[in-house]
Amino acid sequence: MEIILFSALLLSLVIPLLLLLRTRTSSNRRLPPGSLGFPVIGQSFSLLTALRTNTDHEWFEERIRKYGPISKLTLFGHPTVFLHGQAANKFIYTCDGNTLANKMPPSLSRILGKKIIVELNGEDHKRVRAAIVSFLRPEVLKTYVPKMDQETRNHLDVHWRGKREVQVMPVMKVLTFNVICSLVLGLEEGTIRDKLLSLFQEMTRGLLSVPINVPFTQFNRSLNASSRLKTIIMDLIRAKRSILEEQKASGHQDLITHLINAQNENPNLTSDDEIVDNVVGLMFGGYDATSSLIKQDGIVRNKAPGESLTWDDLTNMKYSWRVATEVLRLNPPFFGSFRKAIKDIEYNGYIIPKGWQVMWVSSMTHMDGNIFSDPSRFDPTRFEQQTTKPPYSFVAFGGGVRVCPGGEFAKMETLTMIHYLVTRFTWKLSLKENSFGRDPMPVFNQGLPVLVSPRKHYHSMT
Ligand code: HEM
Repeated sequence: MEIILFSALLLSLVIPLLLLLRTRTSSNRRLPPGSLGFPVIGQSFSLLTALRTNTDHEWFEERIRKYGPISKLTLFGHPTVFLHGQAANKFIYTCDGNTLANKMPPSLSRILGKKIIVELNGEDHKRVRAAIVSFLRPEVLKTYVPKMDQETRNHLDVHWRGKREVQVMPVMKVLTFNVICSLVLGLEEGTIRDKLLSLFQEMTRGLLSVPINVPFTQFNRSLNASSRLKTIIMDLIRAKRSILEEQKASGHQDLITHLINAQNENPNLTSDDEIVDNVVGLMFGGYDATSSLIKQDGIVRNKAPGESLTWDDLTNMKYSWRVATEVLRLNPPFFGSFRKAIKDIEYNGYIIPKGWQVMWVSSMTHMDGNIFSDPSRFDPTRFEQQTTKPPYSFVAFGGGVRVCPGGEFAKMETLTMIHYLVTRFTWKLSLKENSFGRDPMPVFNQGLPVLVSPRKHYHSMT
């Protein structure tokens, strides 16, 4: 009797345990291959090191060699599935927001803000995107050309003219920041601009840090800088609103004024907090991404010395834009991006569990020899016939409903700078080797110093 009782007890304990183990193993079997590593931290430090030392391509290549185009790992506090390939890009960019939602790693969202467009989904995303796109559409961009032209010339006069050597990387960042301040914030040169620049730089340093908010961590310094930066932008909104109420200025001069006017027409369009977070977001897109593109050489047709650029000039610089596009293929400013699985997703025979992060890396399809032949070779002519490339293989500006709305703005800024650089200066690299990394945006560790000489006509211009 005791034996029967003991056996029944044993079975009643063992059977559920076996069932549980079976379910676990079967769902584990369906999870993508790879190790989640140490809880919370996982592979974050190893990836950050690879990014900073410009060995991220090899890092991802090794992962793909080991596990194939889909694998699991832990990044920045979250279990993550890494997807690779043109089909994966297409899957991510065409997935609806109820399956894969935009979700930045916590370090980014806490620093940049919860109302930034890249954190919004569904109706909120549509609403805020419509407001931003209306500011960045070509008809409006055309009206910014003279301002951008002026900012670029001033920049060359201050930072390049009369100099023997220029550190290209930091000065390009100053230029793109000034353009954003002028066009997005309507803020001209002065102490507020300088203050914003230093807070912005401090803020961006912690974007891909491990999110530990205790004194003296970079994450903590970045959070503080972000909060001070946002207070200044909020003050700017208040000042602009009171100027508009007194009808001292008309709308559409800068993004903030544009959004305040849109709010007046439809109070539900954007809140002040949304304006603040998205101004910071545009600063980030306009400053870091574009400055890492402008640091490159190009060839444009000459205009008469001193003559301003027009929108038509910019749209005619086709070769220069192909050069820039090839730079974006080889070194996309955003190395990749993240989404969050809203429900369990089946992909290629594996489960991406609800709540996990999904990550992909642009440079992996950009460097795929089956799509871009001889991928390491710098060859702008490969973009002469865009249609020959499969969709979602060149993804420097993303794709689908979240494709970058600032592409034309970045193009205008880049072409203006290329034009003035090549018509006013000649230059050569100061160093034989310029080491390069990501933090998370591309950085030249020595700042990319170049020896410059002005062209004759620029030398003689007053
Ligand atoms: C070379 C310069 C630039 C590059 C390579 C670039 C790249 C990208 C990429 C890859 C995305 C999509 C990210 C994702 O799917 O997760 C994106 C989104 C975005 N970009 Fe850019 N960008 C650049 C310049 C700009 C500029 C100048 C602005 C604004 C002035 C801007 C504003 C935005 C905004 C608002 C989004 C979010 C769109 C949405 O979620 O609907 N970008 N950008």
